[in-house]
Amino acid sequence: MSLALLASGSGSNVQALLDAAAAGTLPQVALVLANVPCRALERAAQAGVPSQLLPQQDYHSREAFDAALAQSVRDAGADLVCLAGFLRLLTPTFLGAFPGRVLNIHPSLLPAFPGLHAQRQALAAGVRLAGCSVHFVDPGTDTGALIAQAAVPVLPGDDEQALSARILNAEHRLYPAAAGWVAQGHVWLEAGRALFAPHLTAAGALHSPAA
Ligand code: GRF
Repeated sequence: MSLALLASGSGSNVQALLDAAAAGTLPQVALVLANVPCRALERAAQAGVPSQLLPQQDYHSREAFDAALAQSVRDAGADLVCLAGFLRLLTPTFLGAFPGRVLNIHPSLLPAFPGLHAQRQALAAGVRLAGCSVHFVDPGTDTGALIAQAAVPVLPGDDEQALSARILNAEHRLYPAAAGWVAQGHVWLEAGRALFAPHLTAAGALHSPAA
């Protein structure tokens, strides 16, 4: 078992997943792939993990890009894919190659505030609790079956930057934990829903990030 991490940005979640793999709490990371040059690729290089830049403008269609993406993941030997700030919607061409094996983290308590600028949406709505969600990926925008969520308070005076930092902090604990459960077969996708091994539901672990 090994992981492929897909990113487009600063890669702080990539770092959290790389750190967990280095600590042995997650399977090894076989590949960090990005569609644009970004800090996530540098983090992979620093960790001594294979990395690849796959620019979508080299492909004539979404499907052609997704087919190349699937091939890269297969070539790396990875069998679980974690999207970590990967700013592309994936088509069934990619998702069909890894059924139930593609995860994402989103900076809101889904189904609230899908899509871009989730933290800005939360502030505009005036919610008192924000957070993050790890879910299986389907072809929609942040619509796949939920695996785990962590809540953080929205404090008076918060701006987008302050709230994003508080949520990111929770993301860095939640994502490695949730990915580990899927990697170990303690959470799986069946008929579009996430199913859980009894010890996870009993422990309440799905509602707060592991330390
Ligand atoms: C995170 O907020 C994540 O939830 C969202 O994109 C952001 C990526 O941040 N999907 P980073 O690149 O991991 O720092």
